[in-house]
Amino acid sequence: MPATHLSCTRCGNELQLEGIGACPRCFGPLEPVYDMDELRRTLTHRSIEAGPPSLWRYAPLLPVHVPDEPRLAPGLTPLVPATRLAAHLGIAELYLKLDTANPTHSFKDRVVAVACAKARELGLETLACSSTGNLANAVAARAAVEGLDAVVFCPYDLEREKLVATAAYGARIYAVRGSYDDCSRLTVELSFELPWGFVNVGLRSYYAEGSKTVAYEVAEQLGWEQPDVVVCPVASGSLLSKVVRGFRDFRELGLVSGSAPRLVGAQAVGCSPVATAFAEDRPVKPVRPDTIARSLAIGSPADGDAAIAATRESRAARFMRWPNRRSVRTWLCSPRRQASSARPQPE
Ligand SMILES: Cc1ncc(COP(=O)(O)O)c(C=O)c1O
Ligand SMILES: [Zn+2]
Repeated sequence: MPATHLSCTRCGNELQLEGIGACPRCFGPLEPVYDMDELRRTLTHRSIEAGPPSLWRYAPLLPVHVPDEPRLAPGLTPLVPATRLAAHLGIAELYLKLDTANPTHSFKDRVVAVACAKARELGLETLACSSTGNLANAVAARAAVEGLDAVVFCPYDLEREKLVATAAYGARIYAVRGSYDDCSRLTVELSFELPWGFVNVGLRSYYAEGSKTVAYEVAEQLGWEQPDVVVCPVASGSLLSKVVRGFRDFRELGLVSGSAPRLVGAQAVGCSPVATAFAEDRPVKPVRPDTIARSLAIGSPADGDAAIAATRESRAARFMRWPNRRSVRTWLCSPRRQASSARPQPE
């Protein structure tokens, strides 16, 4: 496994690949470090293409050992051309990454697969998380398939339909009288007391790495090329940061050429702390979410500043805010939208 250790992105402190969520010296975020020289020697288009039809084909770029028997493995979801939408927007090529094809229909299956592999290495018997819905579902399914217990903490007013599958997979669900951010704070406190694998707390540095595989797949599926522009939803900011990182890994390893794609982060108007901080050129300040896009309703995004920092390498990064109560379709078809072509409007 080419991952060698964890490094604090704030103070540079180095730690072993253990189940630790933040730097014990400065509480900064930890990131796995890889032996890039070894990867340059061993990782090729061919070696990746010969791998399994899942995210485990990128195992050398993940900080865990591949499970002996990877069951319900996520990843390698379709990248489909959206020709009519492209024509409507007046752009030559547009693709949608259908991560709904993952086992529980969101990219969260990727991050949970990696976090769970680490949980098993550490001998943990319970997977846990705070969630706005999708993560709970992914944790419950992964725990069920691996024979682990699952415990999830969700805001009490989450639509019940979102948790039907989570309940069917047998997870213990706690409805927290508060927002997602309250659930998140609760799980941080509990993580100090319980021997559980909190995927987005203690296992976060492993979990987050799973999102890099979205970028790896897009590049591979485009014939080992990077897209010009990537539009990425932002809640905690982890997905966007790691998508940027994924393309950078491939450039550094000589698996793709060219400069970094232009990144567009998408948030809802009713919860846009990262987009607003980007527009005002200042650190992210927490907001109280008020949006129907519940999966993106994180008012205090753990990786918001990291997402903004990650886009600095992008030629022309932007963040945009989607209108709150109008559907994307209505917005796309509005006269203003048609007049403004495919360019996102920074607000
Ligand atoms: C479907 C979906 N897309 C995107 C995101 C945003 O990911 P992140 O929190 O890593 O920014 C989420 C987060 O919960 C999600 O559920
Ligand atoms: Zn530190």
